[in-house]
Amino acid sequence: MRALVIGAAGFVGNYLVRHLLEQGDEVFAGTLKEPVALLSDTTLSVDITDSASVAELMHRARPDVVYHLAGISFVPEAESDFDKTLRVNVAGTANVLRQAHLFSKSTSVLFVSSAEVYGHISPTDLPIRETTPTRPANNYSLSKRMAELVAERYVSQGALRCTVVRPFNHIGPGQDSRFVASNFAMQLARIAHGKAPPTLKVGNLEARRDFSDVRDIVRAYRFLAQQGSGVFNLGSGVPRSIQSLLDTLIKVSGLAVKVEQDPARMRGPEVPELYASYEKAHAAAGWKPVITIEQSLADIYGYWHERVRAEVAA
Ligand code: GDD
Repeated sequence: MRALVIGAAGFVGNYLVRHLLEQGDEVFAGTLKEPVALLSDTTLSVDITDSASVAELMHRARPDVVYHLAGISFVPEAESDFDKTLRVNVAGTANVLRQAHLFSKSTSVLFVSSAEVYGHISPTDLPIRETTPTRPANNYSLSKRMAELVAERYVSQGALRCTVVRPFNHIGPGQDSRFVASNFAMQLARIAHGKAPPTLKVGNLEARRDFSDVRDIVRAYRFLAQQGSGVFNLGSGVPRSIQSLLDTLIKVSGLAVKVEQDPARMRGPEVPELYASYEKAHAAAGWKPVITIEQSLADIYGYWHERVRAEVAA
């Protein structure tokens, strides 16, 4: 299988590339800037906002499957720059879909949308199924839903094979420190190495979200890309408060810390609770998550502990 991963240098992209190589796929990476370490010979540069650049990428990679992961993924970043979010997440995705369609009728695309598209759901909608109505409530979720609609049009016209995945929160070692688990682990590691005072800054600890491990999520991407159609939720099916995430990380670190709410980390009105039914992905591909939250958080803390140690030693 020839696979093209667009957005391969990102957090999830790196894990996906590794997984595809382990499964024996021939893998090409499309990235905006950074090369992908595992793919020194097959990293190609692409700017998804430039249609010609995406066309050239398709012709050089000649993929059977395109995994489209590129985009703005941090909710507050999308909130602060809607223009850029529209350009990258919507127009960029439209370019990828169009160029895949023009390249070959047999090429299929897996588009990574987001659980955020469900937006302000009511508690009676839980757990969220793919049939739950979407009500995007911020710039990020709007952009993801708009991009889904572009994909839906290609699919309904029989012009492209496309699978849409809606992952809930996924975490793991190497994630950008703007995201909650990575951020708390980084702060704790800095405290452990004496690089910061023992006070941890936090935002809304009451939100309840569905966390799974990135290593489980990328397995699902490969299974589901082979389906060639459909919309799939990916999550653990278990709601967890941000407070419980914090408590587990503090326990893993073995530190005594003070916790302080930072107004800058608080967002506008947030959905209090979100969690998935992943029954559809299970039925289609036999997929279920296997890595425990305790394991994910221990690995994330271990990653940051080592990274800060190396910085201190340098
Ligand atoms: N980032 C961050 N930092 N979030 C915090 C903090 C903090 O200090 N304190 C509390 N939170 C809360 C946020 O308010 C939010 O409710 C939750 O932790 C998770 O925030 P993020 O890790 O930033 O992720 P997200 O939920 O906004 O979005 C993630 O999940 C989506 C799928 O549900 C991202 O991975 C998106 O790309 C993804 O689509």
